[in-house]
This record gives sequence, structure tokens and C-alpha cells, in this order.
Amino acid sequence: MSKLPLFDAVASVSVKVDCDLVPVFQDSAQKAVSPKGTYTDLVDRLRKSGPFAARANSIQFIRFAGKGSSENVLFFGLGSASEVSAEKLRVAGANVWTRMLNEKIQTAVVHVDLFLEAKGRNSELSPVKTVRAFAEGLILNAYQLNTHKSESEGEPSSSKNSQRPEILFVTRDKVLKSALASELAQVSAIGEAINVTRDWSNEPSNFGTPIYYANEAKKLARKFGLKCNILTEKDAAREKMGLFLGVGQGSSRESRIVVVEYAPKGAKKSKALKTVAIVGKGVTFDSGGISIKPSLRMEDMKHDMTGAATIMGATLLAASWNCPNRVIGIMAFVENMPDGDAIQPGNVLKSRNGKTVEVINTDAEGRLVLADVLDYAQDFKPDAIVDVATLTGAVLVALGKRCCAVFGNDAALVDSIRRSADTNGEKMWELPLWDEYFDDLRSDSADMKNSANDAYGGCIRGAIFLKQFIKKGTLWAHLDIAGTGYGNAHIPYFPKRGASGAYVRTLAQFVSDF
Ligand code: BES
Ligand code: MN
Ligand code: ZN
Repeated sequence: MSKLPLFDAVASVSVKVDCDLVPVFQDSAQKAVSPKGTYTDLVDRLRKSGPFAARANSIQFIRFAGKGSSENVLFFGLGSASEVSAEKLRVAGANVWTRMLNEKIQTAVVHVDLFLEAKGRNSELSPVKTVRAFAEGLILNAYQLNTHKSESEGEPSSSKNSQRPEILFVTRDKVLKSALASELAQVSAIGEAINVTRDWSNEPSNFGTPIYYANEAKKLARKFGLKCNILTEKDAAREKMGLFLGVGQGSSRESRIVVVEYAPKGAKKSKALKTVAIVGKGVTFDSGGISIKPSLRMEDMKHDMTGAATIMGATLLAASWNCPNRVIGIMAFVENMPDGDAIQPGNVLKSRNGKTVEVINTDAEGRLVLADVLDYAQDFKPDAIVDVATLTGAVLVALGKRCCAVFGNDAALVDSIRRSADTNGEKMWELPLWDEYFDDLRSDSADMKNSANDAYGGCIRGAIFLKQFIKKGTLWAHLDIAGTGYGNAHIPYFPKRGASGAYVRTLAQFVSDF
């Protein structure tokens, strides 16, 4: 749906382009300086006139001031060269993209050598990492939510027949140029994968039914060379997934479990081949069921399958990156609705692993869904399992909208997920999985209940419930993304409205580095 930019690394520019993109830094007097080059005179004038301080986030577009083959020029500030970070570069890329759209720029040139020649530049950031982060910012911001807008209502920039914008990264360094070519291909893959996650998450639940996602997954799996297996309700019944099936009981739409599998080429028989299973909550609409939610912002509950959408995006991205490990993506799609067949508070359901659960609150449905698929995931004998879910409102109370919660039963596993999050500028905070918290979930009539009778520590309780379905010896981590999956307008390279696509990059990198 969105027009992703095309990237290319080049040694020189011989074609006419709309705009030069020129990084500018702040000197010790906080005024704009640029390394010597084509635009030194213009930067000097900016420096004297004062409106453009080259602070991080500042932008100066000057029409018809482009030189050489370029029509216009856009200066973007990065602050002090020694303090440039990957995250600042992503934000700069996002700002530049927004301005390019507003100015209708179709072709642009990034002068890479200007980043590298900046006096006192942060030497910890390699040239490749510098360009990668900037390009990530550009492509992460290239998303438009227009699936269901009629042609006449759509913004002009979303016009369906306009070209894909082109961005050339020019450097005189031949070695760097070829390194950039492969790096930029990886960044392009991010755009493609993450926009699948966003489109899925944003899909209204009258279109985005479990069967819809199963069909979309099948198409994408074919396109990316993945295996794809779909379990119907009949299959789930054969698997004795009583918790998963219970949640879908009140919906007229059939539930589906989708399993996609990526395997690295030629790695078939190697014993060293590692397998990571990633599991996502795919509640296509969470009305709360009989324990129905209040109507204020209930429309956001179309996003309650963002965990599954994140798993799909991350699996596609890992495949595009030729991940060296096997990845099993498991997505459990089900709609939580109240009707005459719906589960009721006090009902007891039996899980795939034999444990019984008293349903105190039908709105604590995510943990029911995940319990059965986590048990199922362990049949694949993975070396680690990570699940991703919009599991609790409580994670918003605990950590706000900028950070997801991570839980895990293995310190090294949690650390490696956090490291990957860190590299990608995504925030994540570990909360404890202390077994004492399970005391809150003891039931009089079953092995456990799905909700306690007060609202304390809800995010931990969700995680400790899931832990009951993890076998001894299985490495497992759980991400609660209820606060970060959508509505992340405060992050400049995420869309202003709707799904964010957060943690797709983190997960894809985690499974690749595992
Ligand atoms: N899907 C919700 C969690 C949620 C809340 C996601 C806000 C996004 C934004 C989940 O199924 C839910 O309803 N959880 C309950 C659990 C409670 C009943 C134990 C919650 O957090 O209130
Ligand atoms: Mn719920
Ligand atoms: Zn839910």
C-alpha cells in the first residue's frame, strides 16, 4: 500500500535529481558547520544568518539552490558530530522523509562522505552503521494507512500511480560503496516486512478475520519461500487445545493457527542448525467477551493481533536477511466475542497440556490463547521460544507507551533479546517472573484461574500464567507489547496513527544472531 523508496549506492551522480540531502553539524558555538564541499558557501551563509542552528531535528529546504545535477537542496542538522548516534540518524532520516513528501521530491542524493568527513565525528559509529541508521529512518517513516480510503479521499502523495521515490547514496570510497549496496538491501527488506506488520495490525476486524490472515500468510509464505501450515478448529480440537478453542467459541468467525517455517538454504542435515520458535497472540478483535470492555476506544482492539503481525513481519525479515537459523513462526488467530455460545466467567477449560483453567474474566483471553500454542510450539523442539502479545493493559501502567516488558526463564536469552532491541533503538525492560506471583492465580475449582480478583501486578500475572505451560528445560521469553504495538506517534519514524511495527527489527535480528 505504501510507496517504499528505492535505494542505491553509487560512486557519482550523472542524472538530474530533485534534491541533494546534506548533513550539517554544530560546532562548539552551536552554529552550523559542514565539511568542505559543494555547499560550504551556503552553510556559511546559514551560519551567519542564524535561523538554522544544525541542531538535531532541524531542517532547511532551499528551493532552486541545488548545485550540479541537483535542483534543490535540503540541509538536515545532526547536532554535534561527536554526539551523533544511530537513533539520532534514524530520527533525521524520518524528518527528511516527511519533508521530501511535502516538497514532492521524487529523486534525492545523500552525500555520504559528508557524514564521514565531519570534524570530531563519533568514531564508534562506523560509516556503514551511519548510513544504515539514516536509511532505516527514511524507510521506517514510509508508511501510509490508506487501504480503505477511496481514491478521491486519499492524500495526493498516496496516489496509486505515482513512482517509487529514489534515493541515491553517493560515496567516492569504492569499498564503502559495495558495503552500502548490501546494507541498503537489508534496509529495504525492513520496509517491506514491517509494512506487512502494520497493514495487518491496522486491518479492521470485519476484513481482518482469522481466515483472512491465514490466507494472507499463505500468499506471503509463497512469495518469501517459507513453508506454511494452517490448523483449522477441527485440527485444534484434535490437538485438544481447549483454551484456544474456548476463546473463539462466542465468535461466528472460525479460528485459525498459522505456522510458517523458514529454513536456511542447504542447512537441512546439519546437527548444528538451531531452531527458534516465535509465537504471536492474534486476537482479531477483543471485545472482552462476556466480561465486555467499556466502549471508549474499544475500536483499538482490532489491534489485538499485533503480536501475530509482529511474528509474521519478523519471520519475513529474517528470511530476507538469510538468517542462519531455522525460524518457526506460530500465530494464533481468534476473535473474542460475547454470544450464546461464548465462554462465561466461572467456566473451566482444559488445556492441551492437560492443566485446567477457571475463567474468571473472559477478557483475560490472550493468555488462554497463548497457553495452548506455547505448548504446541514445544513439539518443534526449539532451542528457544519467544512469544509476543498485546497481553495486558497493566504493562501501560508499569512502563508507559515507549517500552515493552520482557520476561524470561533464562538470563542469557533475555540479555540477547535486549541487546538486539538496543541496537535497533527499541526500548525493553525486564520484569520479574517470581513464582510467588502464581499464588494470586490459584483457583478453588481448577488448577489455576486466568485472572486474580484485584488489579495489582497484572503484567507479571499474565507472564506467570504463561509460564505454567513452559516445560522444564525450555528456554522461553515473553514480550508484552500492549503499550507499544500501536499509537507510537512520539517516535518520529513510526506512523502518526495506528500500528507501529515496533520489535519487528529486534526480533528478526535476535533470531538471526541466536
Ligand atoms: N487485549 C487486552 C490487553 C490490552 C489492553 C491491549 C490495552 C492493548 C491495550 C487483553 O486481552 C486484556 O483485556 N487484558 C486484561 C486482563 C485482565 C482482565 C486480567 C487487562 O489488561 O485489563
Ligand atoms: Mn482481553
Ligand atoms: Zn486481548
